[in-house]
Amino acid sequence: MRFDVITIFPEIFKSYLEEGLIARAQRKKLLEIRIHNLRRWTTDAHRTVDDRPFGGGRGMVMKIEPIYKAVGDLKRKNGKSKIVIFTPRGERFNQKIATEFSKLGQLILICGRYEGVDERVAKYIADKKISIGSYVLMGGELAALVVVETVARLVPGVIGKSELLKKRITKKKGFLEYPQYTRPEIFSPKKGVAWRVPKILLSGDHKKIEAWREKHSKIVE
Ligand code: ADE
Repeated sequence: MRFDVITIFPEIFKSYLEEGLIARAQRKKLLEIRIHNLRRWTTDAHRTVDDRPFGGGRGMVMKIEPIYKAVGDLKRKNGKSKIVIFTPRGERFNQKIATEFSKLGQLILICGRYEGVDERVAKYIADKKISIGSYVLMGGELAALVVVETVARLVPGVIGKSELLKKRITKKKGFLEYPQYTRPEIFSPKKGVAWRVPKILLSGDHKKIEAWREKHSKIVE
């Protein structure tokens, strides 16, 4: 699966995407993540990406032209692709949307900055407006990283133990997350205090363990 991220701060992404499973999946060609500097699609000497808002008011607004050109260059003609813009006014991102995205061939992610992006980008260019929560960030970059990571781990082969992943998906809906423990069985932070691992998990009884996990699962939708 291919991700194309459009941003005016490409450096933000570098170290994050060069670590761990995301990096491994890129080396294995399961993921192709391209970070693009929006200024590449400007034509003036100052490489302008923003302008003053019509109607007045504070701050600057990101212009439509460079974004339109960037998307036109990056969108693949063959295969399924979706164009996403990040905004706190968008639809709340969740596991269901991530699953839909993971079936695409390409995801183009547009990161806004300043006071926002010319609304015509959301209206005419983007297929989906996404918010990662009801709070206001300084731009879409962190939201893009959240989406890349959540979608990437659903791409077959990325998190390795695909069997484990399958088991954790319920037959009904959503995604199960149960509590996990590892050694030591008893952790003693100070004398007379013992933090124990639930006995059932040490029993070796797989039926009971599965039932316990089901009971303690939270469905993430
Ligand atoms: N840009 C600013 N705040 C945001 C949020 N909560 N989600 C997505 N994009 C944003």
